[in-house]
Amino acid sequence: MATPPFRVAVLISGTGTNLQALLDTVHGQRVAPEGTATIQIAAVASSRPDAPGLERAGRAGVETAVFAISDHPDRAARDRALGDWLEERGIDLVVLAGFMEMLGPEFVGRFRNRMVNVHPSLLPAFPGVGAIEQAVEHGARVTGVTVHFVDEHLDNGPIVAQEALELSYPARIAEIEQRVHALEHRLLPRAVRLIAAGRVRIDPHNPRVVLVDNVD
Ligand code: GRF
Repeated sequence: MATPPFRVAVLISGTGTNLQALLDTVHGQRVAPEGTATIQIAAVASSRPDAPGLERAGRAGVETAVFAISDHPDRAARDRALGDWLEERGIDLVVLAGFMEMLGPEFVGRFRNRMVNVHPSLLPAFPGVGAIEQAVEHGARVTGVTVHFVDEHLDNGPIVAQEALELSYPARIAEIEQRVHALEHRLLPRAVRLIAAGRVRIDPHNPRVVLVDNVD
């Protein structure tokens, strides 16, 4: 009997280049070379109806939905509707890829250790919006990309993967953005593959630490 796929949902608010990277690299691929299970980008939800990423999902034949706060009584109600939608679809992992809104504690609790975010800095440096600009304004010589589990605090949960890149000055923001995005497009799919393969777990001795079995 075929092993059921590892079902991933991607949450977006905008362009969706990270979603595209996942569609191009992990979607439909085997979880592990020796196994039969595949990774499936099974659903894409956007906080905005005009997010260009929705078209990327549509082109790949992935089911989409919009969960704007303005369509619900409040954020908690939106979060509940979104969580129900994801659970109805049997989602194993939620990926926040440019999802530009905070999700409330109830939602975070529902998907604890089953939800990751990609952030364009080496956390805990430069959390929040404009991370690349923050790093350049600070004069940082090194920045990078972080994939981390999502907890109740902004850009704070346990770190699954990080990769650095060097900055030099005078800095050209557009060029740094390109390098950061290229890094994201490699690091996020790698993290999703490792999680799907069951190679990622929280250290029972320190819940801040993620243990990764990085065999390949
Ligand atoms: C990425 O830089 C990601 O790190 C941040 O938002 C951006 C989304 O870009 N959280 P895209 O929509 O995937 O192109």
